[in-house]
Amino acid sequence: MYYPEELVEEVRSRNDIVDVISGYVRMQKKGSNYFGLCPFHNEKSSSFSVSPSKQMYYCFGCGAGGNVLTFVMEYENYSFTEAMKFLADRAGIKLPEVEYNEETRQKENRRARLLEVNKEAAKYFYYQLRSEHGKIGMEYFQKRQLTDETMKQFGLGFSNKTSDDLVKYLHSKGFKDDLITEAGLASFDERFGMHDKFWNRVMFPIQDSNHRVIGFGGRVMGDGTPKYLNSPETPVFDKSRNLYGLNFARTSRKDNFILCEGYMDVIAMHQAGFHQAVASLGTAFTSGQANILRRYTQNVYLAYDSDGAGVNAALRALGILRQVGMSGKIINMQPYKDPDEFIKNLGAEEFSRRMEQAENSFLFEIRMLERDFDLKDPEGKTRFHREIAKKLCGFSEEMERENYLEAVAEKYQIGFDQLRKLVNSVAAQTGLAKPLERPKSGIQSKQSPEENRKKAQRLLITWIAEEPETYQKIKKYISPKDFTEELYARVAERLFQDLEKGEYNPAAIIDMFTDEEQQREAAALFHTKLAQTQDMDRAKAFKDIVYTVKKDSYEYYTSRLGTDVEAINKVIEGKKALEELGKAHISV
Ligand code: UTP
Ligand code: MN
Repeated sequence: MYYPEELVEEVRSRNDIVDVISGYVRMQKKGSNYFGLCPFHNEKSSSFSVSPSKQMYYCFGCGAGGNVLTFVMEYENYSFTEAMKFLADRAGIKLPEVEYNEETRQKENRRARLLEVNKEAAKYFYYQLRSEHGKIGMEYFQKRQLTDETMKQFGLGFSNKTSDDLVKYLHSKGFKDDLITEAGLASFDERFGMHDKFWNRVMFPIQDSNHRVIGFGGRVMGDGTPKYLNSPETPVFDKSRNLYGLNFARTSRKDNFILCEGYMDVIAMHQAGFHQAVASLGTAFTSGQANILRRYTQNVYLAYDSDGAGVNAALRALGILRQVGMSGKIINMQPYKDPDEFIKNLGAEEFSRRMEQAENSFLFEIRMLERDFDLKDPEGKTRFHREIAKKLCGFSEEMERENYLEAVAEKYQIGFDQLRKLVNSVAAQTGLAKPLERPKSGIQSKQSPEENRKKAQRLLITWIAEEPETYQKIKKYISPKDFTEELYARVAERLFQDLEKGEYNPAAIIDMFTDEEQQREAAALFHTKLAQTQDMDRAKAFKDIVYTVKKDSYEYYTSRLGTDVEAINKVIEGKKALEELGKAHISV
């Protein structure tokens, strides 16, 4: 962090979170908190809460959370420095320029300049499309049935046939060659000097979620290659963390996203009223993008091309969605190639119907798998069934697996019991057997020991944050070192220090983290709702959590004996504390 902590704290505390957020979100007071519709995901009921006493916000729907700085960073898509500037201005605080370290300041300046040059280029392309030189571009878009309004909304443009007019224009606006090159708008050539990168193409400006132009995709006129030319990655253009159309989709207030393959698909979908459509950026769908989607909704519909390449891309995307804990549904676009053609031919209503009929990802995968086997050949059929069984083993939860087993058995006319036997034998052979006998506990049955350990630590911090009095009762058993998760350890260390001094300031704790994901995680600690149970049960639950954290820590340090010099002390101390804890009664 490049501002002194006191300054960050001053800026934060002089911007009341309720005041600031009220400027963006309509909220109502309920009890001691304010509630409204979350601006970070699409929802119909208010799960977004702002706490004046904690000076924090949290969404129970999507998990977004933090303090006033985090809010501005997320909402305006600002960097930390930009958010500081914004809030300092708002509170009339002058930020000292010198507090930047030189390297950071240069980076920030460069980012700002890259955004400016992109914006200027977008303006130029936009103007060209509507000028005499852009006629073929305009005709192209009109042929593809885009309305003027749509073209305007997406800021569509045209790069004409002159090879250096953009460069000249940008020069006239004061941009230097190195910046223009870094933005990927032109390149330098020994023979021709600076020349435009985009040439005779219709232009799709790519915007971040705050509508700032971060790059371009350009489609060739006619059949040249490449069909689409895209800006390179730059400090402001991270292709794996942005999505085309997200700037509109994130406020569509639909409970789902439609993931398409192409820019034109997204535009056609939006024009037809599907404002929740997005696409990846000329590259395959990434887990970074999946994580962004997950912040808003669990429901993702895939509207990929129906050709072979599209199907493979869809299968890959499903794998990525699964990695982050989501399962997509697949929209059948037959007999058309992509959503753009589909909408043109069958219209929005039919598309909605196809959404309702969208295929579950597992069944889609099995159906695609089927194509690789000759089911008329007994050998091929057997192998197909074995593959199905293998895939079924992927469900660790029994009920889920049984349900899929039933669905697949029926669809492919395989005897239910036979298929189940096959699943059991495949599981035994491949070492996937565990899930089959796995007992089900609670709601989350897929949690690893690692996750359970994290969960106990998280609960303990949440509990102490909710009821700071409990700290006095556990401090002789638990120290920050018992939190083996680094982020939790840092939070605990600060929280315990504050509580020792009788100060408690969750919003300031969030400031210790500059990374947004970390801030979000830390914020969640202060907003998790503890289950309301009877007092007796609560005491027991609390002690269980304390005991679990201590035991996990004890085991953690035991495993590090010999490699970690401090481990021995923690092990001895841990053993004693566990014995005492076993007998202790902790009232809450
Ligand atoms: P498509 O070829 O399906 O493009 O590629 P499209 O959007 O349907 O375009 P039209 O309708 O033929 O004009 C899907 C996406 O893949 C990326 C682009 O992001 C495109 O939108 N792509 C495709 C490239 O980046 N480069 C290429 O050469 C082709
Ligand atoms: Mn296409």
